[in-house]
Amino acid sequence: SWTTGNVIEEQVEAIRAQVGTKRAICGLSGGVDSAVAAALVQKAIGSQLTCVYVDHGLMRKGETEQVEKDFVAATGVQLKVVDAQERFLKALAGVSDPEEKRKIIGREFIRVFEQAQADIVAEAEHGEDVAFLVQGTLYPDVVESGGGTGTANIKSHHNVGGLPEDLEFELVEPLRKLFKDEVRMVGQELGLPDEIVQRQPFPGPGLGIRIVGEVTRERLDLLREADAIAREELTAAGLDRDIWQCPVVLLADVRSVGVQGDGRTYGHPIVLRPVSSEDAMTADWTRMPYDVLAKISTRITNEVADVNRVVLDVTSKPPGTIEWE
Ligand code: XMP
Repeated sequence: SWTTGNVIEEQVEAIRAQVGTKRAICGLSGGVDSAVAAALVQKAIGSQLTCVYVDHGLMRKGETEQVEKDFVAATGVQLKVVDAQERFLKALAGVSDPEEKRKIIGREFIRVFEQAQADIVAEAEHGEDVAFLVQGTLYPDVVESGGGTGTANIKSHHNVGGLPEDLEFELVEPLRKLFKDEVRMVGQELGLPDEIVQRQPFPGPGLGIRIVGEVTRERLDLLREADAIAREELTAAGLDRDIWQCPVVLLADVRSVGVQGDGRTYGHPIVLRPVSSEDAMTADWTRMPYDVLAKISTRITNEVADVNRVVLDVTSKPPGTIEWE
């Protein structure tokens, strides 16, 4: 019968059989899938695994620390963090077009990750032993991409940034038979923190596609603050399970007039986009309690400099996508 215990035991054995005495690399994105895949492989082969986390500077408040501290504490995994914040900011400078931003973030991500892979191979005593790449591919991903296995022909999932053509690693995909809710259960059984296991969907390009306009460090900091307030209040109100996700978007190219304290302000609006959904293919805007909205609005306009207006997105999907870019 299906139990998380059985799944874990079975996968641990399969991973050991596949990897043997060689070494594996796993990219962590901060998301559920890569975290659970890494934790499973860590359980199976321990120090033969090295995880890589690319800090692109587009994460939400506390998320990088969650990977660096909480995930490592829970699993004992060997982690290599690459601080690529400057690199991403530089590459994104002057760019406002959404598709262009996505392309740049994806491209830079692959480059940084490949460099980290090469470094790990170079640093290893027997570099040729680094032969496996762990991926958090789920069953729905397998079905979507035609069910192939092995080394190539993997759908370039934007979270991981896609794989290079000349991939020389064999894939380890311990979640290939699992659905999302099963992955969460396995993660919980493996002792991962709730904040990671129960995390709502978050796009690979991160806050980079939640700033309408050019991405700058100041704007990222501002959006991070507003997003943290919204998440805090949604959690406090017990709405995390009712809401599929709630993008918080900064309209960086828009200003409106406000009055705060004794003076006139000319600041930016923040958009709240709470949605209800089953699979993100379609969605409806969440009819969430007005008092929670009021609290979020008051706090954001009081606590985040340069924001003088909070607006609610009441568009379903279709026609509106969940993200604004
Ligand atoms: P849209 O905006 O297309 O989003 O309605 C549907 C779901 O996908 C997430 N999303 C992404 N996830 N990389 C990801 O891993 C991406 O580039 C990306 N773009 C959107 C979005 O948050 C929503 O859950």
